Amino acid sequence: MGSQPKLHILLTSEQIEAAVKKLAAAIRKDYQDKHPLLIGVLKGSFMFMADLIRLLDFPLEVEFIRLSSYGRGRESSGKIKVVQGLRSPIKGRDVLVIEDIVDTGLSISFLIDYLQKKKPASLKLCALTDKPSRRQIPVTIDYLGFTVPNKFVVGYGLDWDEKFRYLPDICFIEEEG
Ligand code: PRP
Repeated sequence: MGSQPKLHILLTSEQIEAAVKKLAAAIRKDYQDKHPLLIGVLKGSFMFMADLIRLLDFPLEVEFIRLSSYGRGRESSGKIKVVQGLRSPIKGRDVLVIEDIVDTGLSISFLIDYLQKKKPASLKLCALTDKPSRRQIPVTIDYLGFTVPNKFVVGYGLDWDEKFRYLPDICFIEEEG
């Protein structure tokens, strides 16, 4: 790859921290007596999930699932599949899926269908960011942190070609030209 892209901060780590606190409070209210199963969608959700769960001081379980990714480059292939599945059954469980971003909606729609077939007691979605301008399939986000503009965002778990996941802020990449 050639020169590094130029990054601009969209959401500071302080703004993210405040949003995660709000989300945790809402989730706590709804799930504190339910012993929920939180399913993080790898890899992007790892940082958000870790910060969120640190604030959830009630019994819960953690699982991860990995879907086929964008691969190299910025665009989704549109073909989604599970590349790393769940290790525990979800039948009868109150399941909360944790995503870093809903973009076209293709990944999460696929995942919701996939999980629904396994008959959880309930199934909801928590997403840190939403980019509705790119949506191809309607998605209900039960707990949302931020709506973001139609720019390529990185940081706080989100990558660009596997880069920038480590950034504490969420930044957007300046378009060339
Ligand atoms: C990102 C993100 C979502 C998905 C959203 O994952 O974490 O899972 O894309 O895009 P969509 O709404 O257009 O389907 P990605 O495939 O980049 O993998 P990663 O989490 O490993 O970065």
